[in-house]
Amino acid sequence: MKRVIELLKENDLLRVIDDEVDIDLEIAHIAYVEVKKDDSKALLFTNVVSKRLNKKFDIPVLMNVFGSFKATELIFGKKPQDVAEFIEELLHLKPPTGFAKKIEMFAKLFELRKVFPKRSSKRGECQEITYKENEVNLFDLPILKTWPEDGGAFITMGQVYTQSLDGTKQNLGMYRLQVYDKNRLGMHWQIHKDSAHFFHEYKKADQKMPVSIAIGGDPLYIWCGQAPMPNGMFELLLYGLIKEENPLLVKSLTNPIYIPKDVDIVIEGWVDPKKLEIEGPFGDHTGYYTLKEPYPVMDVSCITHKKEPVYQATVVGKPPLEDKYMGWATERIFLPLLKTTAPDLIDYKMPENGVFHNLILAKMNVMYPGHAKQFMHAFWGVGQMSFVKHAIFVGNDAPELENYDELSDYILDRISVENIIISEGVCDALDHSSPTYAYGGKLGVDCTNDSVNFPQKNIISDKELFEKVSKISKDITEIKQYKTYTKTPIAILKIKKTKPVYEFYKELEAIKEHTKLLVFVDDEKNSIDNPYMLIWRVANNIDAKRDIYLIEEFIGINATNKNKLDGYDREWPGDTDCDKDIIKNLIDKKLIDADKIFLEKFQI
Ligand SMILES: Cc1cc2nc3c(=O)[nH]c(=O)nc-3n(C[C@H](O)[C@H](O)[C@H](O)COP(=O)(O)O)c2cc1C
Repeated sequence: MKRVIELLKENDLLRVIDDEVDIDLEIAHIAYVEVKKDDSKALLFTNVVSKRLNKKFDIPVLMNVFGSFKATELIFGKKPQDVAEFIEELLHLKPPTGFAKKIEMFAKLFELRKVFPKRSSKRGECQEITYKENEVNLFDLPILKTWPEDGGAFITMGQVYTQSLDGTKQNLGMYRLQVYDKNRLGMHWQIHKDSAHFFHEYKKADQKMPVSIAIGGDPLYIWCGQAPMPNGMFELLLYGLIKEENPLLVKSLTNPIYIPKDVDIVIEGWVDPKKLEIEGPFGDHTGYYTLKEPYPVMDVSCITHKKEPVYQATVVGKPPLEDKYMGWATERIFLPLLKTTAPDLIDYKMPENGVFHNLILAKMNVMYPGHAKQFMHAFWGVGQMSFVKHAIFVGNDAPELENYDELSDYILDRISVENIIISEGVCDALDHSSPTYAYGGKLGVDCTNDSVNFPQKNIISDKELFEKVSKISKDITEIKQYKTYTKTPIAILKIKKTKPVYEFYKELEAIKEHTKLLVFVDDEKNSIDNPYMLIWRVANNIDAKRDIYLIEEFIGINATNKNKLDGYDREWPGDTDCDKDIIKNLIDKKLIDADKIFLEKFQI
């Protein structure tokens, strides 16, 4: 970690903050604003206190390590694209012809020996200082509370190491962990994740599950922890492949789990599968709180650390945040693997304001009828890709996927009710819009066809359109049109939801000659002038089966917060909003540098 701090410093990608800052909200709010900037830097807080605990910590806190494309490349030591190319090569190894090619292939395969983790019987530097039994006190670590409504303090960049009941499989997952008291942590491994599968093995066998949580060390460990590796494959293999050096592991002191020897802090313990406890709420990476749910609990048996550890953390919430850059690397590196199930896929993109699993844009070569639909089903059926809620496929003649403006013109010129499929399946456990937990609607839009040849709509100004809709309903408070020159002009409507949104949509058939796609958002907390945050809201708030209305070529999307009027019976979570007084105070102290326009742009 110290080496990475130096590397970031040398590249002018680190800001050291020596002012006194609190673990409750202050550090998280400073980091949250910083990482949204175009030139954001990692932040090292050296003077960390807790007024709540009446404590001053001697461990500094490091945030936003993956705070830019450049920082991410520095951590990888190469471009993610280079890793992708190497994986592609490995996947397509051909028998070599000629002596020179044989030597080349042998050298390549010989290099692969560095992929495998190596176990040492010695102690690691992460075990220089140890606290066992009664000495264990999680409150001695500067663990942050990141959002006002959070159920407590959470470890947000913990590498969670687990193993299968028979010890043959290891796993590294990045899951948040809630501090309950001085020696107990909530384990937020969601239902679909590998550690949850291991947990069920231990539960069935009625045995306690060993878990070790590492913090810090090489930040690439934490990136590997969030990588969607196939079930049963240890994520540290990916570390070895990227770094071209064997990850070096040492055994935890009080359980059988091996952890990298150079991490900063290790929390060891055991999970009793008989015990579950309420976890959350927690301001999550969807930009909403995840609500209280029962999760397993770890009894901490030991804490070890380096002589001078650094505590690494992140804050998740509304985009863009650190996960934008982590997600970008994941997206690039996993493209060759995705192509093994979807061979004619050219590229894909999961925009951060679509909260990754809420929206995927994919470009492909179409070889036969229904090819795009085949890929949609393939995605929805495999690993963590199956969490994707909305998939839009375009042909090989489409603009670059990052060129959102031109790409959206291309898509809108091709949308037809005929090309939309609505299905259902597995959802991310965090999805709040689905009618049931972790299961809901899926939307697939096949835009690989030619442009549709429907007549152009009769476009009128926003003001004229608003006058027309006001005559239909007084509960429509604002309207703004986008992309009116395409075959699918969009009208964003802010509404006060006094009745089911479907009824608004039906009444608005009267304006069908002027527009094709109506998007309904709540009057509160949305700006119709902010497409970046509107996409975030829409992709989060809809369940395709319930919220998309398709009558002939007039489409409605209900992106309002749901309640009984929509037939929604679950509890709808709130947005992750910063504490306004704390933001103001941090601006006054010059710890945050942001004006009103910036704060509004990202709905801070
Ligand atoms: C910042 C961040 C926080 C995350 N928090 C959680 C979490 O609390 N629980 C969870 O199940 N997944 C979480 N994830 C996603 C997992 O890390 C990811 O799905 C990973 O592939 C899981 O590994 P596994 O399949 O080995 O379980 C998080 C990812 C990121 C980038």
